[in-house]
Formats: sequence, structure tokens, C-alpha cells
Amino acid sequence: MTAPAPRRIVLTGATGQIAPLVARHLTSRHRVVLTSRTPWRGAPRPGVTHVTCDYDVYESLVDVFRGADALFVVTNDPTRPEHDRNVVRAAVEASVGHLVKLSAAAVLDSAAHDLITEWQRANEERVKESGIPWTMVQPRSFMSHALGWAPGIRSSGITHALHPHSRNACVAPEDIAEVSALLLGDTGHHFRSYQLTGPQPLSAHEQSAVLSRVLGRPLRCRELTPEEAHTRYTRRYSPAMADALIASAGRQLAGAKAQTTDTVERLTGRPATTFAQWAAGHRDRFA
Ligand SMILES: NC(=O)c1ccc[n+]([C@@H]2O[C@H](COP(=O)([O-])OP(=O)(O)OC[C@H]3O[C@@H](n4cnc5c(N)ncnc54)[C@H](OP(=O)(O)O)[C@@H]3O)[C@@H](O)[C@H]2O)c1
Repeated sequence: MTAPAPRRIVLTGATGQIAPLVARHLTSRHRVVLTSRTPWRGAPRPGVTHVTCDYDVYESLVDVFRGADALFVVTNDPTRPEHDRNVVRAAVEASVGHLVKLSAAAVLDSAAHDLITEWQRANEERVKESGIPWTMVQPRSFMSHALGWAPGIRSSGITHALHPHSRNACVAPEDIAEVSALLLGDTGHHFRSYQLTGPQPLSAHEQSAVLSRVLGRPLRCRELTPEEAHTRYTRRYSPAMADALIASAGRQLAGAKAQTTDTVERLTGRPATTFAQWAAGHRDRFA
């Protein structure tokens, strides 16, 4: 059997968490173009071309998407749905062959009506109506949220969370990336959605205990009140986004995020990464 021909694969979100990890899985077989609004300032990556484009500048998207056999779409601002409209319209104009969308597991939760989930639902609908063969990647929360604890761990050995006993089947960004790369490099996954979780649901208390073992030092998890959590969220996000994150935490408290799937294992052929494995792999970022 001959291997499938190399494809031209364009990844948006070059400066984000997931797309650079996806690129690593693709460069040995495919031509990879990584895009972001900010020019790439790091060392050149073998097999990767960096191109800037801006979701606000429609023509810049058409130019970079043209000739793409597959496109990985990462957008990150629910208050700017015009970004998502521009990306899909440009993909249609550029005759992109396959669109893989980084969405979210919450879209499947009929009780979820916060800003972020409704935005991702609308994004999925737009992609499905575009006429381009699509695949949805629907991850649960990224394990890398724990990196937000690093300054507190370093300074005082304290982690923090709203509803710290509630569990989330969070997933390693590296697993999301490996699955996404498989979907982008293969035409066999058109018109399918893949919900990705880690192997077990964990609470913030349980994650803190794992980190404590991995780092070899005692850690204490402090419960945040909703008001404290909202204040923290608004340091990074708009008040509307902060409200959405509080609502999302409420659904976690009600048990909506504890279910696991076997998707990572089914597609990659190896078990999903545990939080302990992820934490050990990122130990120096906490130390
Ligand atoms: N975090 C979670 O737990 C979680 C769970 C489920 C789903 N998700 C979904 O995952 C996605 C976020 O993925 P991520 O963490 O890899 O992304 P990220 O780290 O937030 O990065 C976003 C990327 O989008 C680019 N971008 C933003 N505005 C742009 C613009 N106007 N033009 C061009 N590029 C622009 C950024 O480039 P610049 O640096 O140039 O701005 C950056 O590379 C979101 O859709 C989110 O809903 C997240």
C-alpha cells in the first residue's frame, strides 16, 4: 500500500498552545504553514513556514489559505464572532480541501448556554454549512490550566480554584495535538466530531496532590469564592467572559465535566496521558 501524498496543511494559532504541538506531528510528511497575527520570533522550525495573517483582515486569510489541502482553525475570542465568519468565508473562497476545527466538549452539553459555548456552537454550525468537508475536535479543559498555579506554587505552595472538589476529565494539550494531526493528515475523518478527555476526572484538590508528589513539596489548594474567581478572571478576560467561566465552573460542580471518552486511545493506539504524566513532563515550569 502506498502512503498518502504529502499535503499542504495550514495551521492557525501559531503562537497559541495547540497548533505548534500539532505541527510537530506533521512536518516529517507534510508541508506545514503556521499562521498567527504576531510575527514568529522564535528559532526557525524545520519543515515549517511561518506566515502572518489577521482574522480582521479578510484578504490576508484568503492569501494564506489558498492551496491548503487541510486547515486547522483556532480562534479564541467569543466577543469577536466576525473573526470566525472571516476565517470560514476565506476558507471557502480559497477552496480549502478539509477544515479541522478546534471546538470544545461543552457544545454537546444541552445545559451549557454560556457565551463561550454558544460561540463554539455557532462556529461549528458555520463550518458545517460551509460546504467544506469538516472534522470537529471537542476537547474538555486543557490540563495546562494548572500552569496558572505556577507563581503561587513557587511563592507560597498554594494552588486555588473555584469549586475545588468538583471534577473535570481534563485532557493533555499534547493529546489534543496528536489527534488533530492525525485528522489533518488523513481524509478518513470527514464529517465527524471527536470528543477528547483525559483518562480520569480530577478535582483541583486531586490535581494539587498529584503536583505535590511530582514536585516533591507540600501544596495546599485554597477554595476561591465566586467573587474572588470573577476578579481573577477579569484580570485576563472581559467581564462577559468571566461570567461565562463562572457558569462553566457551576456546570462542573453539577458533574457535567466528569465523563471520560476513549477517543485518544482509539485514534492514537496508546492510552490518554494522565495528569501525573503531564505534570512530570512539565515539572520545570512549576519549579
Ligand atoms: N483552554 C481550554 O481548556 C479549552 C478547552 C476546550 C476548547 N478550547 C478552545 O481552544 C481554543 C484555544 O486554543 P489555544 O489555547 O491553542 O489558543 P490560544 O493559546 O488562545 O491562541 C490563540 C491563537 O489565535 C491567534 N489569534 C488571535 N487573534 C488573532 C487574529 N486576529 N488574527 C490571527 N490570529 C489570531 C493568536 O495569535 P496572536 O498571538 O498573533 O494573537 C494565537 O496564536 C479556543 O477556541 C478554545 O475555546 C480551550
